[in-house]
Amino acid sequence: MCGIVGYIGAQEKKKILLDGLQELEYRGYDSAGIAVISDGKLQHFKAVGKLKNLREKAADFRSEGPGAAIGHTRWATHGKPTELNAHPHVGAFSYVVHNGIIENYRELKEELEAEGVRFLSQTDTETVVHLFEQKIKEGLEPFDAFKATIDRLEGAYAILLISEAAPETIFFAKNGSPLLIAFGAEEIYFASSDTAVIGHAKEAYYLEDGEYGYACPGEVKLFGPEGEKTISTKPLPADKAMAQKDGYRFFMEKEIYEQSTVISDTMLGRVLEDRVEFEELDPSLFEGIDAIKICACGTSYHAGLAGAYLLERMAKIPCQVEIASEFRYKDPLLSPRTLFVTISQSGETADTLEALKMAKRAGLKSLSICNVDNSSIVRESDAAILTRAGIEKGVASTKAFATQVMVLWMLTLYLGRRNGAMTPEAIAHELEAMRHAPRALLVGERLHERIHRLSKRYLHGHGFFFIGRDLFFPLALEGALKLKEISYLHAEGYPAGEMKHGPIALADAELFTIALMPKTLLYDKIKSNVEELSARDATILAISPEAFELADDFIRTEEADHPMLEFFEMMVVTQLLALEISIRLGNDVDMPRNLAKSVTVE
Ligand code: AGP
Repeated sequence: MCGIVGYIGAQEKKKILLDGLQELEYRGYDSAGIAVISDGKLQHFKAVGKLKNLREKAADFRSEGPGAAIGHTRWATHGKPTELNAHPHVGAFSYVVHNGIIENYRELKEELEAEGVRFLSQTDTETVVHLFEQKIKEGLEPFDAFKATIDRLEGAYAILLISEAAPETIFFAKNGSPLLIAFGAEEIYFASSDTAVIGHAKEAYYLEDGEYGYACPGEVKLFGPEGEKTISTKPLPADKAMAQKDGYRFFMEKEIYEQSTVISDTMLGRVLEDRVEFEELDPSLFEGIDAIKICACGTSYHAGLAGAYLLERMAKIPCQVEIASEFRYKDPLLSPRTLFVTISQSGETADTLEALKMAKRAGLKSLSICNVDNSSIVRESDAAILTRAGIEKGVASTKAFATQVMVLWMLTLYLGRRNGAMTPEAIAHELEAMRHAPRALLVGERLHERIHRLSKRYLHGHGFFFIGRDLFFPLALEGALKLKEISYLHAEGYPAGEMKHGPIALADAELFTIALMPKTLLYDKIKSNVEELSARDATILAISPEAFELADDFIRTEEADHPMLEFFEMMVVTQLLALEISIRLGNDVDMPRNLAKSVTVE
C-alpha cells in the first residue's frame, strides 16, 4: 500500500506535495519522493524512512511557477526500502509514481532489457516509465504512448506520470488502487485519498477501475474502456478529521469495513492460478525444517493458533504456538530443525522481539509475519512476509488479524505444495475458497444494523463466553479479547467441548454465550455443547448459517463451502458486536483505557 499525490498549478509545489503526502503517510512510510517539472525541466528528491527525511532533504528547493508535480510515500512490495527503490521512478525524461503491483513486470522488464533499457531499481513500477519512453521513441504522441503503456499492464495500479515530452501535463490511470482528481480555483490535484486535498479543493472525482486520461492547466480528459467520459464531481468533505475516518465513527469501524479490500492486497501477486508464491521468500529457508514454532502476543497469538490448525491439518507440519511472554522464561528446548515464526502487527512488541532473539541465539531460522516493514521484528528475522493491512489506528486489532490469518492460510498452501503433503487438486480447492475471502469479509448494511440493535441486550450480565471448536476456538478467543478490550466487560474464549469440565458451573441467565456454529466444521458437536449450556439457562447468541431453536438471539451467516469463509464472516460479526457494545457504553473505541497500540515494554 502506498500513497500518491499530484499537482498542476503555479503554487509552491513542494509544499502541496509534502503536505498531501503527510496525510497519506499512514499508507506507507518506508521511503518517499517527489518530482517536479517546471520550465520544462524535471527535478526530484527521494529519501528513505519517514516523510520528515524528505522534508529535510528538499528544504532549500523552491518550486513556484507553472508546472506539474507528483509525489509518493511507499510501503515496499518489490524491493527493499532504499532510495533507488523509492518513487518517483525515473526514465530519461519522465517520472512515474505508482500504488499497486504490476503483476507482469518481469515479462515487461525482460522485453525492455532486451531493447537495451537499463533498470536502476528492483521495483515493478520502473517498467512503466521505461515502457512509456520506448513508445515515445517509437514515435507515438505522449498521450498515445501512455495509453499504449497502460494497455500492457496487468495487476493493480494507480499511476501518475509526468514527462518533459509534455510539460505541465499529468497522465493518470487507475485499476484496483484508489485515485481521485480534485479541482481548485485554478489548480488540479490528484491523490490516493481525499484527506490529501481537503483544504485545497472543494470538488473531486473518484476514478473507477479502467479509467485513465491526462490533465493540463484548464483541462482534464478522462477515458474508460468505452471511450471518452464526462467527469461528474462530488463535493469534498470540509472536515479533515472526519475524512480520515471516511465518515466512520471510529477508526476501528473503518478498519473492520476495510478488511475485504486489504485481504485482496495480502493476496495480490501471491495467490496465483495454481499455487501460492511468496517472492520475498528464499526456498532455502525451509531446507532441513520439519516443525514450526509460532510465537506471538494477543491478537497475533490468536492468528497463530488458527494458523497451526491449518499448517498441521493440510501441510502436515507439526506446529506449536507459544505466547511470547511465557516462552521467554520457560527454558524451551529448541531444535534447529524448527522454523521460528513470529507474528506481529507492529513488529515492535518487546516480548515477541525478545523471543525471536532467543530463538536466533539457539540457532533457529526465523520468519516473521508482520504488518510493518522495516520494523524491529522484520529486521531481526531471516525472512518476512508482510501482511499489507495498511496502518491500523484502532488499538483493537481487526484488519491486521484478518491479514495475519490469511498469510498463514497462504503459507499452508505454499508449504503443503513444497513438501508434497497437498495434491494439486487439494490446493486448487483451497485457492478457489481463498478467492472468495474478500466477499466473506464484506460488511452488509443489514448485518451491521442487526448487530447494532441486538447489542443493547448485552451491556450487563456477569460475563461472556465465546465458544467454538477447532479453528473457531482461536476465533472465540479473539472475539472475547475484542470485547474485553473496548467494552471493559469480562469475556472469555473457550473451546466449546471444554465447558462441561468446569465453566458450565457459571451458567445462568446472566451468562452470555456467544456460540460460533459453522456448518462446515463439527456442527453437530458444537450444537450439543450449546444445548448443554441452554439447558442450564445460559443466554445464547448463536452465530450460524443454520437457525438454532434454542438460541435467545441469532445472527445468520451465509452458507459457505469452506470453513475459512465461515471463519472470516464470523470474525466480522464478533468485531461488530464488540464495537457496538463499546459505543453503547460510551467508551473510547479507538483508544481504550490502559492500552497502547504497540507494546514495547515487557
Ligand atoms: C489486539 O487487539 C491488541 N491490541 C493486542 O493484543 C496486540 O495484538 C498485541 O499487543 C500484539 O501486538 P503486535 O501484533 O503488534 O505484536
